[in-house]
Amino acid sequence: MDELDQGMKKDEWKSRLGFMLAAMGSAVGLGNIWRFSYVAGENGGATFLLIYIFFILAFGIPLLLAEFSVGKAGKKDAVGSFMRLAPGTKWHWTGVMGVIGGTLILSFYSVVSGWSLYYLFHYLIGDFWTEPTGGFGQGFEDWTSSTWGPLIWQFLFMVAVVFVVIRGIKRGIERANLIAMPALAILMVVLAVYSLTLDGASEGLAFLFTPDWSQLSNPQVYLAAMGQAFFSLSLGISGMLTYASYLKSKDRLPAATVGIGVMDTVFAVIAGIVIFPAVFSFGVDVQSGPPLVFITLPSIFASMPAGGLVGTAFFVLLVMAAYSSALSMLEIPVAFFHRTLGLSRKAASILCGSVIFAIGITVSIGYGILSHVTIVGNKGILDSIDYVTGNFILPLGAMLIAIFVGWYWTKDQAIKSSEINNHSLQSIWYFIVRYIAPVVVLVVAITSIFG
Ligand code: PHE
Repeated sequence: MDELDQGMKKDEWKSRLGFMLAAMGSAVGLGNIWRFSYVAGENGGATFLLIYIFFILAFGIPLLLAEFSVGKAGKKDAVGSFMRLAPGTKWHWTGVMGVIGGTLILSFYSVVSGWSLYYLFHYLIGDFWTEPTGGFGQGFEDWTSSTWGPLIWQFLFMVAVVFVVIRGIKRGIERANLIAMPALAILMVVLAVYSLTLDGASEGLAFLFTPDWSQLSNPQVYLAAMGQAFFSLSLGISGMLTYASYLKSKDRLPAATVGIGVMDTVFAVIAGIVIFPAVFSFGVDVQSGPPLVFITLPSIFASMPAGGLVGTAFFVLLVMAAYSSALSMLEIPVAFFHRTLGLSRKAASILCGSVIFAIGITVSIGYGILSHVTIVGNKGILDSIDYVTGNFILPLGAMLIAIFVGWYWTKDQAIKSSEINNHSLQSIWYFIVRYIAPVVVLVVAITSIFG
């Protein structure tokens, strides 16, 4: 045992199923519902979906297995795992990037989650069941540009996240997901079935499932699909690595990885089935962008039979999905500071939660008193952080992990750590991780920076 570990008992998942549900909880989030629906809407629907699924299968799942392998072999937080596996090298900077990336993503993710919580509250008390005076669009803008309201909801959300992370892996994160994930799946299917009964559902389904082949030559669609695949699988910032470090050695990786990747994709497709039929049957523009979930959908719910209930169910879903993803993001810096600073889990969780909330304050008031502030190009604060993390930190992190597994490790080490048994699958996986994934990620990242 390393010196650093002394006196610290290692927390672990109680079961492999618990790990799988938690990793699915991380993957299924605002990304599948809020981000997927507007990105698919803006990028042609079915063609985007097809390319997205291709990226998940060809790169996403293999890279997820690579990230899990490093975590399971390293048995520590993002930075510690690389230090143990590659002592005396600079590889631990990949983990440092993950700690910074997780902190930054959660700082804006918690703002959007706070909005979702606020909507949920107003659905529960019934006053969003009908369109407010001035409409949902104006209401959303007025509210997000105010100072205190959004901060209070964001604070409440972060308190709930910190509360569970304090309790640790087995008693906190695993238990929360054991309830949240099945509930999420049931709610999602119920909503999808309801959405399919709407007049005009077929138009929404056609948008989602009938590709416009001419779009296949549009590079923008590939870029969007790949970014979405990474974001949705939580790849590249060592969150999945950290989760895998809590596995028992007997719990095997490959089938779990495929299960997680497939479930994440199924959730995204079902979210599409929930959202697009409604969007089409109410004649709304599918290209309405990020506000789709906060402005467009509530207007649709308000004019639909039993819309108040549907809206309530939808926002329960959104908040739970965001919550289980936020747990995994907070765990990245918490695991790191818990070990390096020798802080208790509780102290580390409160410290990291507070720092993230503090950064999040700036993000939130970026919609109000700081709305004149732009960071990257003419993007506001939230968009800038989303842009830098999504297009730069996530792909770069995923690429470094692929290079670590494909080039730093020997072929034997990589294949042994991946725990794939089948010979042809071993070769295919290794080839993708070693050669194809780094090149593809690099090309996409460069195009997204200079494109
Ligand atoms: N996968 C999450 C989602 O779809 C977001 C996320 C990214 C979570 C990176 C953890 C790490 O919303």
